[in-house]
Amino acid sequence: MEIHVVDHPLVAHKLTTLRDVRTDSPTFRRLTDELVTLLAYEATRDVRVSDVTVQTPLTETSGVQLTRPTPLVVPILRAGLGMLDGMTRLLPTAEVGFLGMARDEETLQPATYADRLPQDLAGRQCYVLDPMLATGGTLAASLKLLVGRGADHITAICLLAAPEGLEAVGAELDRALGAERDAVLRVVTAAVDERLNEQGFIMPGLGDAGDRLYG
Ligand code: PRP
Repeated sequence: MEIHVVDHPLVAHKLTTLRDVRTDSPTFRRLTDELVTLLAYEATRDVRVSDVTVQTPLTETSGVQLTRPTPLVVPILRAGLGMLDGMTRLLPTAEVGFLGMARDEETLQPATYADRLPQDLAGRQCYVLDPMLATGGTLAASLKLLVGRGADHITAICLLAAPEGLEAVGAELDRALGAERDAVLRVVTAAVDERLNEQGFIMPGLGDAGDRLYG
C-alpha cells in the first residue's frame, strides 16, 4: 500500500487550526472542506483520463477528459460526509456511493450499518473519504469491500493517520487479499501523527472528527 503525506504549508496551516480545541464546529467544517480540496488535488494526480480533440475558437487541438465510468467517491459515514463537498468540487461528475461504518467504543471493531454502493465496481477507480485512520479497522474493512466488488484502484483520503493504523491496514489487506491482489491501494493524508492512545484515539490528533463536525 502506498502512503502519500501531502507536504504543503497551506495544508499544515489548516490542519493546525483543525487540531486547536478552540476551533468551533462551523470553522471545523469549513476548514475540513478546504483541506480536502487540497488533498484531493494530490490524490487525483493519476485519475484516469482519455485523449480527446477539442475545437478552440481558432483551431482544433488535443486534450483529455475523465475516462468513463467516472470515479466513485465513497464517504464513510458519518465523519466522511464532511469531506464530500470538498471532493466533488474537484470531481463534479463523480458518482457517489455511501458506506456507513461505526467503531465500537470498547472493542474498536468497525460495524457496517449502511451500504449504498454499486454491486459491480469492476475496473473502477474509487476515492474513499474518512478524516481519521486510527486503528485502521474501518479503512481495511472498506477497502476489502470495494476490492471484493472489483475496484482496482482505490485512494483513501484522510486528514490524519496513525502509524499503527497504516501498518495494520497494509498487513490486513496482504492477509485478506494475498499476493494475487492486483488493485492499487493508496492513502493520501495531511499528516501521520505519533501514535494511538489506549482509547484508540490518534495522538496528538484533533479529537473525534465526527463529533467536531456534527456534535
Ligand atoms: C471514526 C472515524 C473513522 C474511524 C477510524 O468514525 O471517522 O471512520 O472512527 O477508526 P479506526 O481506524 O480505528 O477504524 P466513528 O466510528 O467514530 O464514526 P462517526 O464517523 O460516525 O463519528
